[in-house]
Amino acid sequence: MSAIATKELSARVGVEVLDVDVERLLNDDEIAVACVDLLEQHGVVLFRELHAGDEAQVAFSRKLGELVQFGKYTNPNVMEISFDPGNPNAKYFPSNDYWHIDGSMDPVPAKTSVLSAHVITDRGGETAFASTYAAYDGLSGEERKRFAGLRVVHRMERIQRLSYPDPTPEQLADWARWSDRVHPLVWTHESGRKSLVFGASASHIVGLDPDESRALLDDLEHRATTPDLVLTHAWSVGDLVLWDNTGLVHRACEFDRSQPRRMHRSTVLGEESIK
Ligand code: OGA
Ligand code: MN
Repeated sequence: MSAIATKELSARVGVEVLDVDVERLLNDDEIAVACVDLLEQHGVVLFRELHAGDEAQVAFSRKLGELVQFGKYTNPNVMEISFDPGNPNAKYFPSNDYWHIDGSMDPVPAKTSVLSAHVITDRGGETAFASTYAAYDGLSGEERKRFAGLRVVHRMERIQRLSYPDPTPEQLADWARWSDRVHPLVWTHESGRKSLVFGASASHIVGLDPDESRALLDDLEHRATTPDLVLTHAWSVGDLVLWDNTGLVHRACEFDRSQPRRMHRSTVLGEESIK
């Protein structure tokens, strides 16, 4: 076994793997095994300027599990994230600017997301990450008791309205293709750890007054994403970042949308529903 050198990126979130090139990524099986542990401990794992390319990214992602298939893309293992008008999902990507969990509208959210930078802008366009385990750990004992039974309705319309506050009937009909999904506010993972489930898709808490519900969800998100808790990754072309989508929220930071920016994402299917 070869040792893997790492460096913490911030106190709470993120670790960089050092001295690994694409060849080693693909051929040294210890790397994928180590990444699983690093993801559990640090949430985000960075390989700086790896320049993996789609084939290597997909081959490595497969070592972490089965991949989500993106039927609209030429390579169904890779979703291109860009505002290029030819991108089949371009209209949905503005919502990436808001804190979210990938696949929060799915029965089982993604386990690991793998994102690489292909075209970046001179300014902005970072990706920010915050731990939802830390969000739970930051609650008072009284809050932990109060939140234990709460259930949250996740709704596509809630995510999309943040970017399109005045939707057309066609947009509303499109968003309604996703059924609401109800998740507990507190996720007790099979590992025994607990995290909070919030973010852009969180519409309201079942049975609570709407204003109280909105205020609580906003407060939890605000407290979990104060700058001292957030890792903001400023991309270089070729960077590859993995994140534990079950224990983090993330978002894209602002950039000039008239400039091209293109990221490639492969996604490892979730194995654990939120319960
Ligand atoms: C994603 C995502 C953020 C970014 O690919 O799931 O949220 O910075 N991307 O592009
Ligand atoms: Mn995302």
